Amino acid sequence: MIIIKGGALVCPEGLRRGDIALDGGKIARIAASIEPGADDTVEDAAGCWVFPGFIDAHTHLQCWTGMDWTADSFETGTRAAACGGTTTVVDYATADRGVTMDEALAEWRRRADGTCTANYGFHMAIAEWGEDSAAQMRRMREAGVSSFKTYLAYDHLRLTDAETLQCLECVRDLDAVLCVHCENGDIVNELQREVLATGVTGPEGHPLSRPAEAEADAVSRLLYLASIAGAKVNVVHLSTRLGLDAIRAARSRGQQGIFVETCPQYLTLDDTRYLEEGDDGFAGAKYVMSPPLRKPADIAALREAVLAGEVDSIATDHCSFNLHGQKDRGRDSFTRIPNGGPGIEHRPAVMATSFEGQLGPMELMHLMSEGPARVFGMWPAKGRLAEGADADICVWDPAARWTISAATQQQAVDYTPYEGVEAHGRARLVYVNGVLAARDGEPTGEKPGRYVERG
Ligand code: URP
Ligand code: ZN
Ligand code: ZN
Repeated sequence: MIIIKGGALVCPEGLRRGDIALDGGKIARIAASIEPGADDTVEDAAGCWVFPGFIDAHTHLQCWTGMDWTADSFETGTRAAACGGTTTVVDYATADRGVTMDEALAEWRRRADGTCTANYGFHMAIAEWGEDSAAQMRRMREAGVSSFKTYLAYDHLRLTDAETLQCLECVRDLDAVLCVHCENGDIVNELQREVLATGVTGPEGHPLSRPAEAEADAVSRLLYLASIAGAKVNVVHLSTRLGLDAIRAARSRGQQGIFVETCPQYLTLDDTRYLEEGDDGFAGAKYVMSPPLRKPADIAALREAVLAGEVDSIATDHCSFNLHGQKDRGRDSFTRIPNGGPGIEHRPAVMATSFEGQLGPMELMHLMSEGPARVFGMWPAKGRLAEGADADICVWDPAARWTISAATQQQAVDYTPYEGVEAHGRARLVYVNGVLAARDGEPTGEKPGRYVERG
C-alpha cells in the first residue's frame, strides 16, 4: 500500500486532516491516522492539499488539422498533464467528413492506447450529419463516449442549425451532453475577408475577425436550440462577457442542463498579447487560438462568474503548435496560423496562482476535478476523495514557488503563454491509478494511464 500522511484532504464534504491509503488502483482507506505496515510506502504530505486528481476535459492531442500534427502527442501531452497535477484528460476524437464515428474512435484509441501517463477518455466531435449519425452516436454511448461536440464555426467542421438541432435531439435521447464551439462562422469568414482587405495580415488581425458578438450570437443560438430539443449542452471555452450574458439569460428563463467551461487563458491573458514584440512582429501568433484572447472587461466578467459559481469546469483547450515551424506558416496571413495553444501542464498552477486568496482548495477541486467528473460521467469513481474511488491523486504543495518557462516544461512545444509567471503552488506527488506518475513536476517514467469508459 501507499500511505500519504498528514495532508489536508480535499474531500467532497470539506477539508479534513488525515491519511489516505492507496491499494490496487483504488483509495483503500481514509482515516485520521493509518499505521503503515512493513511493506508500505509512506509519503509525508504535511502542509499539502491532497486533491482528487485534476481532470482536463478539453484537449486536442496528436491531432491532424489537415496541415499539421499538434506538437503534443498523447505520450508527451499526458506526461505533461500528470507533471502538473492532471490525472485524466478527455480529448476530442473527431469524425471528419467521410469518416464514421466508429472509425474515429478506433483511430484515437490506436493513437493513445499504451502511451499515456494520465487516464484518457474521448468526446466525439461530429463534422457531418447524415442518416446514420444517430445510430453511430448510440454506438459511441455504448463504447463509453457520453459527450459529443459540434462546431458553429470552421467551414470544414461546422453543422447547420437544422443539423445541430437533430444532433441535440439525439443527445437528449441518449442522456448525453453536447459540447459546442460557439462562434458564428459566417461572421468570422466575412470579417477575415474585410480585415485582410484593410492590409492587416499579422496576428493582430485574428481578434479583429472574431469579435465578442460572434461568440454571443452562437451561444445564444445554441441555447435556444438546446431549449427546443431539451438537451444538455456544455458551452466550451467561453471567452466573453456577452457570451456570459446569453448564458445568464437562458438560466434565468429556467433552462436546465447548461454547463459552462472556460480556460485559464481567458481568465488571465488579454488581447494586447497579439501586439507582443519579437519574432519580427510575429510573436503574437503564440496566442492565435479560437476564440481569441479578449478585453480586460471580459476577463473581469469571467473571473466574477468563476467566483460566483456560474462556471462548471476549467479546462485548457490544449492544442499546441510550435511557433517556429508550424505557426509561422501563417506569416503572410493570420488566417493560416494554426489555431490553438498549450496549457495542459500549467492549468492547476495558473489557476491556483491567479486566484490565490479568492479560490480555496475546495473551489479548485470543484472546478478542476469534481465539476468535470460530474458533467462528463466520471463521478463518483473520479473527482472524489473517498474509499473505493480511483486512486488518482494530486498532492499539492501550496507553499512551493517556481517559474513557468518553456525551458523547463514537459509540454513538447517551443513556448508557453505563461512564460515567466511566478507560480504559487505545485504538484508534489501525482498518482494515476495508484501509480506514482510524477514528483515535483518531473515524470517518473511510468505510464499508468488507461482508457476511461464514461457513463
Ligand atoms: O484554437 C483552438 N481552440 N483550437 C482547437 C480547436 C477548438 O476550437 O477547440
Ligand atoms: Zn473550440
Ligand atoms: Zn478545442
